Amino acid sequence: MARILITSAIPYINGIKHLGNLVGSQLPADLFARFMRGRGHEVMFICATDEHGTPAELAAAKAGVPVEQFCADMHKVQADIAAGFRLSFDHFGRSSSQRNHRLTQHFAGRLAEAGLIAEVSEKQVFSVDDNRFLPDRYITGTCPNCGYESARGDQCENCTKQLDPTDLINPRSSISGSTNLEVRQTKHLYLKQRALKAKLEAWIDSKKDWPILTTSIAKKWLNDGDGLQDRGITRDLYWGIPVKKGDQPWPGMEGKVFYVWFDAPIEYIAGTAEWADAHGLDDAAWERWWRTDKGAADVTYYQFMGKDNVPFHTLSFPATILGSGEPWKLVDYLKSFNYLNYDGGQFSTSQGRGIFMDQALSILPSDYWRWWLLSHAPESSDSEFTWENFQASVNKDLADVLGNLVSRVTKFARSKFGDVIPAGGTPGAREAALIDALTTQLRSYEANMAAMEVRKSAADLRALWVAGNEYLQAAAPWTVVKSDPDQAAMMIRLAMNLIRVYAIISRPFIPDAAAAMMHAVGSADWTWPDDLAAAMQTLPAGTGFNVPENLFRKITDEERADWQQRFAGIRT
Ligand code: 2FM
Ligand code: ZN
Repeated sequence: MARILITSAIPYINGIKHLGNLVGSQLPADLFARFMRGRGHEVMFICATDEHGTPAELAAAKAGVPVEQFCADMHKVQADIAAGFRLSFDHFGRSSSQRNHRLTQHFAGRLAEAGLIAEVSEKQVFSVDDNRFLPDRYITGTCPNCGYESARGDQCENCTKQLDPTDLINPRSSISGSTNLEVRQTKHLYLKQRALKAKLEAWIDSKKDWPILTTSIAKKWLNDGDGLQDRGITRDLYWGIPVKKGDQPWPGMEGKVFYVWFDAPIEYIAGTAEWADAHGLDDAAWERWWRTDKGAADVTYYQFMGKDNVPFHTLSFPATILGSGEPWKLVDYLKSFNYLNYDGGQFSTSQGRGIFMDQALSILPSDYWRWWLLSHAPESSDSEFTWENFQASVNKDLADVLGNLVSRVTKFARSKFGDVIPAGGTPGAREAALIDALTTQLRSYEANMAAMEVRKSAADLRALWVAGNEYLQAAAPWTVVKSDPDQAAMMIRLAMNLIRVYAIISRPFIPDAAAAMMHAVGSADWTWPDDLAAAMQTLPAGTGFNVPENLFRKITDEERADWQQRFAGIRT
């Protein structure tokens, strides 16, 4: 039994995530966690809400509630939706937790002791009317390059020129519109990432089995232009983790907080500590996942994220860990994803375009979405959600292939053989051939799942379902029963066992349907079918079974057209 630590990129608190966010981090992480648990490994799967930063403050102000309250409420909303999608986190934490405060301050203190923190005095725009320093992107003005009037202080959206807020003509606060802006002196902490470059490079080079998408992004940031930059890790904001050196005050940094991207990944560790707290366990319980000197040396750590998050996880967070000089666990495998597009454009949170997690659950159960999203995961390139494709996949894979098999077998068994699985005669060549074919396909599925090849795994699973269907098609117990009921009974017993096997192996993708299938065949034995031939004998004759309600229903053309129209616009 191996020990597997899994983290998914932690979603920002301000707003509900769209399906593109889901398929790029939390959902494939859940698939992997469920698979590893199914194989009998010890899994720790952590996610959280990413709560700090200006967007959260502004969203709270817009909602007219204190930011603490806003985050607490939104955390609950996101936790409920995650449960709705059956995301099986061992803990869904909060980056604003006291655990994360302490750990973040601890890391900053260690980095300072190691000489890796510089205090830098710099000029920043202060909005007098908003009574706050403005991050570059919250300053709007006219672009000096192209004349575009709504250019942001970090970059002009129109001509893409990188800007400094002081370049803007007629600058104003994007928060209040006020032009009463001043340039003020302020002091910030910088993490000296450059000093860690050689260590980071050696570490990345040692990762021979990482996906190209991951290493190419890491390498680009290491070496492009001036190479790895030192990074500001503090901000002049109210909402965040107060800057401290361990548990000591940091002179000159009073009233400042750590930058959200500094504390967010530390929440992976803090979230595990929150898990221990929630279960009344001691520190040793979470440290054995994270400290190689306290039992984590045999842990394998997997991270899941969209490609935009890769630089922070291959450089910034490892810089924090390596720079601390303490034996914390570094990521072993980093699985990153491209983007999912929506019906000819992009999913967009800021523009409210696409389908959001709550909306998805309001029209169909989570398994339908999980199946489509995972079987179309944007791995080697971006992929696209279209309603036509969604309808076709659901109707064919889930309803016609899998759902139909389960319902046909159980209904037929009920009508011909009563309440229990019949005994029947001895399996023959056709059954042996089926088991051979299934075994080969199952080994491929396991290998792809272990390698986090999400689409290939889905294709293997679909092929396993199809093989069962083809067997039943050819064996035709519904015809055979007329001349040889014993033979038909044998086929049905085999099919019942096959449904149980399907429940086990499909569970990572479609957990609710898997539970319904397991219930249908009257079993609760989720043991992974390492030996498929043996697994196909698990349910003895005489086992009671149930005819499930429609496992999957088809999506009609009218529904598709209706949803397509309903989700064509912009969510407000
Ligand atoms: O992109 C995002 O949604 C970020 N909130 C991810 C943070 S991941 C990590 F650093 F915790
Ligand atoms: Zn411009």
